[in-house]
Amino acid sequence: MSNKTLIFAHRGSAGTYPENTMAAFSAAFNEGVDGIELDVQLTKDDIPVIIHDEMVDRTTNGSGWVKDFTYQELESLDAGSWFDPSFEGASIPTLEQFFDFYSQTSLVINVELKSGVVRYPGIEKIVLELINKYKIRDRVIVSSFNHYSLVEMKQLDPEIETAILFMEGLYEPWNYAKGIGAEGLHCYLPVAVPELLVGAAKAGMPVRPFVVNEEQHITNLIKAGCDAIMTDWPERAIQIRESL
Ligand code: G3P
Ligand code: CA
Repeated sequence: MSNKTLIFAHRGSAGTYPENTMAAFSAAFNEGVDGIELDVQLTKDDIPVIIHDEMVDRTTNGSGWVKDFTYQELESLDAGSWFDPSFEGASIPTLEQFFDFYSQTSLVINVELKSGVVRYPGIEKIVLELINKYKIRDRVIVSSFNHYSLVEMKQLDPEIETAILFMEGLYEPWNYAKGIGAEGLHCYLPVAVPELLVGAAKAGMPVRPFVVNEEQHITNLIKAGCDAIMTDWPERAIQIRESL
């Protein structure tokens, strides 16, 4: 474990801004985060876009599956008003728009490849090409709940850093992660128990739990020497880290 727990903004500063929008990322950057986590899916015309749900209904004024929209159609949706009317007009960003700005910063970028009910054949190659185009491979972590996707990423580029996402209390998940070539453990907060933190540290594998919003949880994980935490409230987490 590193000495300092890194603070990653989960979907940007999602507690105070509409998640996965440039406004949420910009807020996180200005708050001084170490990294940003974001969710990537593909449009009908294979443009990687940043949105969490497989359907646009919850976070936009549209309706339907992300995969059924061309980017031009998706771009016109309002991805801000659902959160607060003051964010009216915010759009779903492309991964390229995000890289255009954040490739010029030193932030760690955690790209989560979404692959749940909907599969996006070819998403690994498309995202990897974009990472290479912006020459940011050394500070990108690719994560996914779909571990086949991570294996595919590694086959395309053995040097790309990957991390397994998981929700359950797996036994010695660092061994499993190593077995598929992954370098990190991104676990659901309730399973970030001492055995996991200590075992992963001994195995030299970073742990970055999500979503760590409560003051006590943030404090405990920082004190435990956790490598990074993902939070919707990065400003709060940074303040806590500074106070310890
Ligand atoms: O990458 C950590 C976390 O974001 C995974 O869960 O559903 O928020 O994408 P979810
Ligand atoms: Ca995510």
